[in-house]
Amino acid sequence: DWTPDQFIESTVAELREQIGEDKVILGLSGGVDSSVAAMLIHQAIGKNLYCIFVDNGLLRKNEFEDVLHSYKDMGLNVKGVDAKEQFYSALAGLTDPEAKRKAIGKVFIDVFDQESHQVEDAKWLGQGTIYPDVIESVSVKGPSATIKSHHNVGGLPDFMKLKVVEPLKTLFKDEVRLVGKTLGIAETIIGRHPFPGPGLAIRILGDITPEKVAILQEVDHIFISSLKKSGLYDQVWQAGAMLLPIQSVGVMGDERTYERVVALRAVTSVDGMTADWCHLPYEFLADVSNEIINKVRGVNRVVYDISSKPPATIEWE
Ligand code: XMP
Repeated sequence: DWTPDQFIESTVAELREQIGEDKVILGLSGGVDSSVAAMLIHQAIGKNLYCIFVDNGLLRKNEFEDVLHSYKDMGLNVKGVDAKEQFYSALAGLTDPEAKRKAIGKVFIDVFDQESHQVEDAKWLGQGTIYPDVIESVSVKGPSATIKSHHNVGGLPDFMKLKVVEPLKTLFKDEVRLVGKTLGIAETIIGRHPFPGPGLAIRILGDITPEKVAILQEVDHIFISSLKKSGLYDQVWQAGAMLLPIQSVGVMGDERTYERVVALRAVTSVDGMTADWCHLPYEFLADVSNEIINKVRGVNRVVYDISSKPPATIEWE
């Protein structure tokens, strides 16, 4: 029978054998898969693993700093790269969801390529690919899928010429979580909701500006911390907020306002392929809505998404 301890023991031994004294580069995303892959490789080869964690300016509030901190606590050799401006300028004026994804994928590859040149003599690229990514490679979206889809384009970035090492390739998500827990990775990383690679860019409908990102980060932060405080976070598979490209009329004191609308989304799911909207308690929704409207300047209306997948998707873009 499969156990996480056995898996760790045999995988670390195999990685040691396979990699030897070579150097490995790995892009961390803050998510479960890349973190667990990094910790396994770290156990096998220690400081020869060079991790890169990119701030694309589209993460949750404080996420870059918090997660970078956890990675350092875990003993990982990790470099945090502030590439916010590069992402914002590539996104400027883009409104089409796929165009946004493409622009983000391209900047990500450029930044990663630049950074990988700082690691002399690297021979391997570590990736947190898990079994469902392998079997559903067509429907998978994300940094690794983005990288794969660029393989035919020609003029391959240098890091893509590296040999690939994917220690989680045979595991399902729940097994990855078990392995992560056994490796002692913090619950804040292991129990984290899925978060899309393009981040808040696909939750801001329409064009992206740093101001909109800042508004959505505040809204999302209120929603997610409220879920945590009320013990609902672990019952939800994924949650987040969308900033809509419309304004609506409101009233504050005796002033008429004309401000932004946000939509909250929380779903239950097993694998993201299908999902149901979460029947969050009305009291909870009422409190979150009040807090958002009272605290986040520029937002005067909150709506809750009651669509299931299919036919709706989890994200709005
Ligand atoms: P949808 O919106 O297709 O989302 O129902 C299913 C799951 O995939 C995530 N998602 C993405 N993840 N890059 C990613 O890495 C993307 O472009 C992307 N689009 C959606 C979504 O957050 C959900 O977990």
